Amino acid sequence: MNSRTVADLLSQDITIPEVDIKGWVRTFRANRFIALNDGSTLQNIQCVVDFENFDEALLKKVNTGAAIHVKGELVESLGKGQNVEIQVKTLEVLGESDPETYPIQPKKHSLEFLREQAHLRTRTSTFSAVMRLRSALSFAIHKYFNENGFYYMHTPIITGSDAEGAGEMFKVTNLDLNNVPKNEKGQTDYTKDFFGKETNLTVSGQLEAETYAMSLGKVYTFGPTFRAENSNTSRHLAEFWMIEPEVAFMDLPGNMDLAEDFMKYVLQYVLEHNGEDLEFLDKRQQDEDKRKPQAERNPMTLIEKLKFVTENNFKRVSYTEAIDILRNSKPNKKKKFNYIIEDWGTDLQSEHERYLVEKHFKCPVILFDYPANIKAFYMRLNDDGKTVRAMDILFPGIGEIVGGAQREERLEVLKQKMAAIDIPEEDLWWYLDLRKFGTAVHSGFGLGFERLVMFVTGMTNIRDVIPYPRTPQNAEF
Ligand code: 4AD
Ligand code: MG
Repeated sequence: MNSRTVADLLSQDITIPEVDIKGWVRTFRANRFIALNDGSTLQNIQCVVDFENFDEALLKKVNTGAAIHVKGELVESLGKGQNVEIQVKTLEVLGESDPETYPIQPKKHSLEFLREQAHLRTRTSTFSAVMRLRSALSFAIHKYFNENGFYYMHTPIITGSDAEGAGEMFKVTNLDLNNVPKNEKGQTDYTKDFFGKETNLTVSGQLEAETYAMSLGKVYTFGPTFRAENSNTSRHLAEFWMIEPEVAFMDLPGNMDLAEDFMKYVLQYVLEHNGEDLEFLDKRQQDEDKRKPQAERNPMTLIEKLKFVTENNFKRVSYTEAIDILRNSKPNKKKKFNYIIEDWGTDLQSEHERYLVEKHFKCPVILFDYPANIKAFYMRLNDDGKTVRAMDILFPGIGEIVGGAQREERLEVLKQKMAAIDIPEEDLWWYLDLRKFGTAVHSGFGLGFERLVMFVTGMTNIRDVIPYPRTPQNAEF
């Protein structure tokens, strides 16, 4: 790896007689100035051609989107906007780009249009910045866990269990769907299927991660998860990435501490390492805000918001306290919420979560001790018999970003909870074994990676923070 990148060249403060660079043309101005980008940085390098010395037919091929190879001298730039530029000696067009048909023109395109051109959208500043941040965040996540003694575990993607018990899963089968084998009861005979049983794409690696936490101590998963929920919102994907740490001998307060420390660390990492892209997206958000009515504008700039989260404690509030706050809130009394909060026990909608975070507390909030019947079966039942040791972390502008819990470690209680919602013990015999052999308090959580990327980049649609979004009726690319 010794080839130069645009990022390297722009960081030079000396002249270099011979440099050699390849990239894609962003613009070609006055038959003289090529703005070249190679993805290594948001910035383009200016390549100056003396058109008298170059073949006119060659220069005609220097269009937006073309791949070119430039050799020349790196010199101090007298023009505005850059310190150095390349005086081009040789120019080769590696791959042409027809200006009549190339979709990404040097002008502002809508995010909706660019979603349809998702294979080319990272040739824009916005999407290249978002995807560089996505990469940096992934790295920071692995770095955090590595520095803190966690093992990275690969949980299966094809699974026979439904961790969340929500039933919103994609089937995995190689049966001939036009000729499905049936059993005596007239139902699909999965014994004839590839795995000899019904299988799905995983909705969460948690249950398998628990098995490793109960032997290796501290583990995490970071992989794709799949949900067939038909919610066509700006915050849901059918395929998304989740980070799930799981730790033995850790209780719910420990879980909150871990989540808070972890999230602050990754935000701090990008603040320190990705300033250029963040500043660009910060300015982009401010420009967007100028076009919105006052009430819809962001109360802080993007970078202020990230710093605010790293510098302040998350507010920890029980579900019961939250219900009291919501019940007495203005939008509830004036019936402005779509779902009016009346009784303890109702599930919170995103409008309520956002009220708590954005209007009431004005900081990230950790809600805990939810009613048992609105949470998954594996959560630790409290002594009151009606709440569980669950926690959700709510972020401004995003709503729920983390869901987690202390796990039910008592065999009998877990069996009763499974029976109550008809999960057969045979299906999760291995999960129950953990409670039979050396059971202990343990906890973990799941962070929705795309929601984190949304928060960091200020993008407001989840489809714009994953390379190729999978949503209802859409699996292009
Ligand atoms: O709250 P969830 O469903 O929690 C679990 O799956 C647990 N098993 C995690 C654990 O304790 N190990 O999902 C966790 C997070 C949510 O808070 C949200 O950020 C994200 O995953 N998420 C989604 N992100 C994008 N699209 C969807 N359809 C999502 N569903 C959940
Ligand atoms: Mg959740």
